[in-house]
Amino acid sequence: MPPETALWNRVEQTAHEVFATFGYGEIRPPIFEPTELFARAVGGETDIVSKEMYSFPDPPQTPMEFVQATLGRIGQEQFALLESDPEKLQDFMRELAELQDVTLVSLRPEATASVCRAYIEHNMQQLPQPVKLYYVGPMFRRERPQKGRYRQFYQIGAEVLGGSDAPAIDAEVIEMLMTYFDKVGLHGATLYINSIGHNADNCRRGYVAQLRTALEKVKDKLGPDSQRRIDTNPLRVLDSKLESEQAIIATLPHIADHLCDDCKAHYAAVKRQLEIRGVLYEENWRLVRGLDYYMRTTFEITAPGLGSQNAVCGGGRYDGLVELLGGPPTKGIGFAIGEDRLILSLQESGKGQKGQGRDVYIAWMGEHAYAAAIHAAKDLRKAGLSVELPPVEQKFGKALGQADKLGAKYALILGDNEVSEGLWTLKTLSTGEQEKFPEPELIEFLRQQKNVSSYL
Ligand code: HAM
Repeated sequence: MPPETALWNRVEQTAHEVFATFGYGEIRPPIFEPTELFARAVGGETDIVSKEMYSFPDPPQTPMEFVQATLGRIGQEQFALLESDPEKLQDFMRELAELQDVTLVSLRPEATASVCRAYIEHNMQQLPQPVKLYYVGPMFRRERPQKGRYRQFYQIGAEVLGGSDAPAIDAEVIEMLMTYFDKVGLHGATLYINSIGHNADNCRRGYVAQLRTALEKVKDKLGPDSQRRIDTNPLRVLDSKLESEQAIIATLPHIADHLCDDCKAHYAAVKRQLEIRGVLYEENWRLVRGLDYYMRTTFEITAPGLGSQNAVCGGGRYDGLVELLGGPPTKGIGFAIGEDRLILSLQESGKGQKGQGRDVYIAWMGEHAYAAAIHAAKDLRKAGLSVELPPVEQKFGKALGQADKLGAKYALILGDNEVSEGLWTLKTLSTGEQEKFPEPELIEFLRQQKNVSSYL
């Protein structure tokens, strides 16, 4: 709602401007896509796909209607089980949809998959490479809502797709991100980076095997979530925020010691490239990210004032994702900023715009004055000033009170006397000072004030 939307607009406008200076073009992916796209790209075992997506059969039915219609009457017991376990229901729906040749669609939980789908569908590999795209819009995840975590939230994201995985591309993406945060006025942000290597025995796969062995040894000291992840996705154990697990996690092997030579060299070059660009970073060996498509460079940015949900941006490299979705071999890297969190952090640091304000409130009285007021409003608005012109006549006292409440900078006082004299009164509301001007000078004066303030 206003006045907060003014801040949202400024944050988005700054993204359009900064990203354009780096040669990015805007893409507007659809709000929903086949569920299968997200399942393949983000990964069936991830939290996002296994429990957080809003999925529907197309044509729409509730998930339970779909299950019943597809299977006929399922037993009471099975029905109750599915109804009480959303994760099982999702799995079951996906299996049935495949069997019955029904399309399941999902509200997008993220947009990287859609951008890769569009790259393939529109043959973007034939454009000059790399293709640099960005997007702004709502995403949907059925998470437990809390401060900074919503079921409909907004992302500002960017993706670079093409034939090269040069470390300079990784570094420039991050440089653009930090330039943007700086421009938008986010201070105290910390950039964390890591490399999670690539999926090979002499690299991440080998590391994961060692990690699993190490985790098995301490299994009984871990909580149920981490215990489960030893089998499904041991890397995610490193993400744990559980206080009781921190000391154990600190003793686990580090991925940096198990990267293959190519991934090690790539990571070292990314760090060097960041240094050349003057981008400050901290390394965090536990930064593994919650989506399956990542490889090599991963990064996250935290910002102050957000409590436990303090990641304001996440991203990384995802070579091979386009190929996985049926396209040509393609390298990719990108990020997404959580816009809601960015706004929260800006507000907490006092950077949020207060009040929507008005430049001029026109306090008019009398029929002649009203005609002059309408023309004055037209001229001032044309010059870009925000003008409030009350639709009915009010006593001056009441009008000035209203102007104050709206946070107007000036009240333009127009009575029939002022109009016949050709001298209009301008009151500066913060000081109470009043000055008379001939009409053309007054409009010119306000116009200049506007120009001055837009340069400040
Ligand atoms: P992600 O880490 O899942 O990555 O999300 C990126 C950012 O979106 C998070 O750092 C957070 O600020 C915000 N976010 C995520 N979930 C919520 C929520 N429920 N409420 C509010 N904010 C949220 C991705 O989505 C990847 N697609 C990023 C990417 C692009 N990687 C490569 N290219």
